[in-house]
Amino acid sequence: MTAISNYSLKSYTTFQTDYSAKSFFACKSENHLISFLEKKENKHTRIFVLGGGSNILFTQNFEGLIINMQNTSIEIIDENDDFAYIKADAGVVWDNFVEFCVNRNFYGVENLSLIPGTVGATPVQNIGAYGVEAKDVIYEVNTVEIDSAKTKIFSNYDCKFGYRDSIFKNEYKNKYVVSSVVFKLSKLEKFNIAYGNIKAELENFENINVQNIRQAVVNIREKKLPNTDELPNAGSFFKNPIISKSLYEELLIKYPTLVSYPISENAVKAAAGQLIDLAGLKGLRKNNVGTHENQALVIVKYAETKGSEIHYFSKFIQQEVYSKFGIQLEAEVIIL
Ligand code: EPU
Repeated sequence: MTAISNYSLKSYTTFQTDYSAKSFFACKSENHLISFLEKKENKHTRIFVLGGGSNILFTQNFEGLIINMQNTSIEIIDENDDFAYIKADAGVVWDNFVEFCVNRNFYGVENLSLIPGTVGATPVQNIGAYGVEAKDVIYEVNTVEIDSAKTKIFSNYDCKFGYRDSIFKNEYKNKYVVSSVVFKLSKLEKFNIAYGNIKAELENFENINVQNIRQAVVNIREKKLPNTDELPNAGSFFKNPIISKSLYEELLIKYPTLVSYPISENAVKAAAGQLIDLAGLKGLRKNNVGTHENQALVIVKYAETKGSEIHYFSKFIQQEVYSKFGIQLEAEVIIL
């Protein structure tokens, strides 16, 4: 029940940057985690919970303790005519969970197919794609408090979900470890296919069912997003920025194709990828780092380079977008 010292993190993040952790704890179950956290020698001043590492950029060695959840069971804990309640361990690969649900005709996560990462990250990051977010299907979140080693259950409401955001990224940052998540999925046919390119992709299928929606999403993602094994990356590097309607309308005069999603009476969400693209930075490469040629929002590593170099490149993109549009992009990726 001890952590390993000076452990390489290279294979633990999709950017595959070559750094190590001072201590690393591979956790096999909630009880394993509790026993570990109860021990005095395992109290660290700096702790980070690492999931699938698909949204992280290490820029230096981590001088603290990394907890990596490696519990992997999925269980239907309750069901009725309308809903199934499924408990998935934090260490389950997210897409394996999606496949489990789609195979049983449970509706609600098919649009989130192929998102990299593990179940434990889904409530932290409120992952989302194609008009669906994790918050739409999360029933409750089982956690262990790091300081007390006591369990605590968060309801959906308690999680304070926002766009790629939750209580676990704010007031409870690095305070709780997610051990498992209970999802509530519909057993009644219920699709969410309004998002532009899903509708178009579904035209290639004979009929619309949950399996075909999953396949359509897989097809879109495989076409647009680079495979992390071939070109290391962490998906969207920046969040889509929320801007005032007046700025949007002003920009629209010069850039009539500018996309927006309604947020409130006075604000809209712009597409960060499109801004980077319109700034002429899509496919830009500097040394071994660049923006992807099919989706400018994804920063890719072409060959071995330091995390700090990737960070530096991302700052350059932020500066360029700011000087062109007056919009400050915020990183979606966690930079450590
Ligand atoms: N666009 C461009 N040029 C680009 C990229 C995008 O013009 O280089 C335009 C597209 O044509 C489209 C708009 O920008 O009109 C939005 O693009 P897209 O539909 O590809 O989605 P996104 O807003 O760039 C978000 C999520 C993705 C998620 C997709 C699909 C964020 C930060 N990203 O991307 O999530 O897969 O929607 O729902 O919200 C991730 O979080 O890592 C991620 C990949």
